[in-house]
Amino acid sequence: MFPALILLILLLSIFPFLLSNFRVIFFPTEKVHLNYLKKNIHISDSDVIYDLGCGDGRVLKYLMSDSKARGVGIELSPILYLISKFRLRKFKNINIVLGDFLKADLEEASLAYCFLNKKILEKIIPKLRAELKPGAKIISYITETENLRQMSIIKDSTGQDLFFIYAI
Ligand SMILES: C[S@@+](CC[C@H](N)C(=O)[O-])C[C@H]1O[C@@H](n2cnc3c(N)ncnc32)[C@H](O)[C@@H]1O
Repeated sequence: MFPALILLILLLSIFPFLLSNFRVIFFPTEKVHLNYLKKNIHISDSDVIYDLGCGDGRVLKYLMSDSKARGVGIELSPILYLISKFRLRKFKNINIVLGDFLKADLEEASLAYCFLNKKILEKIIPKLRAELKPGAKIISYITETENLRQMSIIKDSTGQDLFFIYAI
């Protein structure tokens, strides 16, 4: 019974990727890099932060550990969704949603965090432009785009580009 349940969970986790034309495998933002991000962005209590493909939930957990802002993590993989949900269970201001961010309503996001490959980042940009309010920010880890207005780049101590900050 227990192995069958594990197998079912694994299959449910893999299926969305097999069905999607735009696959992004799970690869978490490095914790040491999140330190650079936290030091260099200001999060106000009125912010609503979306992590598009929240993986194991680490970005929201780290960025919002001492914040009253609201957070939403959207994750396609049921296993990662469950991990995020568990990990962030004590954060009443963070909601983890199982689903496809390409189909989600992103209107209330004041800051959208993306760690996506170039193909899917380009795919979601028209949706971000259409739904986010003027002044909203997009943070893209590692992946740069020419199709959004770049505000700044957060680099590590060696000068390597880490986070590209864009504005709508
Ligand atoms: C590179 S990982 C980044 C995880 C997390 N944001 C971080 O930085 O640690 C990308 C995540 O996006 C998820 N993902 C891929 N396509 C998705 C989609 N269309 N909707 C929701 N999540 C998706 C993957 O399952 C994976 O967990």
